[in-house]
Amino acid sequence: MAEFKEVPADAPATEKVTVWFENRFPTAFAEYKKHLSEYYAPKNFNFWYFFGSLALLVLVIQIVTGIFLVMHYKPDANLAFASVEYIMRDVPWGWLIRYMHSTGASAFFVVVYLHMYRGLIYGSYRKPRELVWIFGCAIFLVLMAEAFMGYLLPWGQMSYWGAQVIVNLFSAIPFIGPDLAILIRGDFVVGDATLNRFFSFHVIAVPLVLLGLVVAHLLALHDVGSNNPDGVEIKALKNEKGIPLDGIPFHPYYTVHDILGVSVFLMAFSAIVFFAPELGGYFLEYNNFIPADPLKTPNHIAPVWYFTPYYSMLRAVTDQMMYVFVAIVLAGSLLAAAKAKLPALFKAAIVGAGVVIVGLMLAIDAKFWGVVVMGGAVVIMFFLPWLDYCEARSIRYRPSWHKWIYAIFVINFFILGYLGVKPPSPVGELVSQVGTLIYFGFFALMPWWSRLGECKLVPTRVTFAPH
Ligand code: HEM
Repeated sequence: MAEFKEVPADAPATEKVTVWFENRFPTAFAEYKKHLSEYYAPKNFNFWYFFGSLALLVLVIQIVTGIFLVMHYKPDANLAFASVEYIMRDVPWGWLIRYMHSTGASAFFVVVYLHMYRGLIYGSYRKPRELVWIFGCAIFLVLMAEAFMGYLLPWGQMSYWGAQVIVNLFSAIPFIGPDLAILIRGDFVVGDATLNRFFSFHVIAVPLVLLGLVVAHLLALHDVGSNNPDGVEIKALKNEKGIPLDGIPFHPYYTVHDILGVSVFLMAFSAIVFFAPELGGYFLEYNNFIPADPLKTPNHIAPVWYFTPYYSMLRAVTDQMMYVFVAIVLAGSLLAAAKAKLPALFKAAIVGAGVVIVGLMLAIDAKFWGVVVMGGAVVIMFFLPWLDYCEARSIRYRPSWHKWIYAIFVINFFILGYLGVKPPSPVGELVSQVGTLIYFGFFALMPWWSRLGECKLVPTRVTFAPH
């Protein structure tokens, strides 16, 4: 046990109380120092660094509003829709709690997408922060599951049919698919059993996993230290006390700095909650104000906006698209065999593997490969730390044309998102097919394009102008 600290008899009461606690709970004080008052963050953080703390804020908003929603919500196929209407109309402030939760879901994705983009442009995923990134990608996957299951709970038409479409996708998996879909639903169609299990997962199981991952994400970050817009490793230059020359204590500097981000965010968030909670059908779809009807399929079923880029990629995988994939796999395996410095036997194995994959591609339904592409679009992000070979970490010091690559990637992601909201059309299908290739090309060709071009000289100290 650590030594008890003594306080002079005439010390102020606040000091006496603090020391009383510190003597009995030193871990809390040590952790406070480690993660806040003595966590040295680079002094050149810009607005992109708001989104991590904003993600934490939204997480808290979702948990708190969720707790209050559960007090009146009924997870029963006969009562769920009406209980949400009851919350909206009769429960005091119920409308506010519900709109905060529904807007919070979209806000979560806005904030997390921007947070991920920051990681992308400043190379925050690279050594030694690979695990920070991997935990982040896992958070993103879990967040998607959380949002998907939450969306079923109001038991509106879109809740019902969206879940029906997505769960049915699992039945495309060879051999185990149909049984797996029944296991997920708990029934042959989406029904009361589905609602109950999604409720259970949405309110307890998945949030627990999410919280655990967020803790792991932050602990891993604090072990290696934050990156910054220059991509300079501040731990490389320390003073005699071992404090990075370009570091400042997270508290009070960034706790105060983050108040600005929080204020701007809360203004935008409140504006939506109070004046446009449906946001033109993007945050709350109009069809979801109609109770679920298993006998009436809506004309057009689309997921909420944050899933639509992935939904577009799913729809892009048609029978014709499979031939493009076959050509890519064949060309890829031949190229890999030709380039690899391996004995002939291994080269033959690479080509053989390519041929086997092509065989599987042609033998199994395109619907299944659509699911693989949709899942692969998220899974490929986990590998980012091992795809980037550029000498410079941050976009600031990479060859200027890299900016164009990132711009194309982002615009393409928006186009895919837009197409995913729209009903299928021949032109839309073609564009989403090209978009899918661009999306995967960005990652798959990164080991090649990231090596090209001349990087600018990376400074040894961060660039910072006091203001
Ligand atoms: C619930 C969701 C999340 C929360 C609450 C969260 C929280 C945070 C916080 C508080 C930080 C430190 C402050 C900052 O750098 O902005 C951070 C850093 C980071 N996060 Fe997240 N995060 C989440 C999701 C993600 C996702 C989905 C990814 C990527 C796939 C990600 C990747 C990173 C990276 C790479 C850093 C280090 C950034 C740097 O040092 O430059 N995070 N996160």
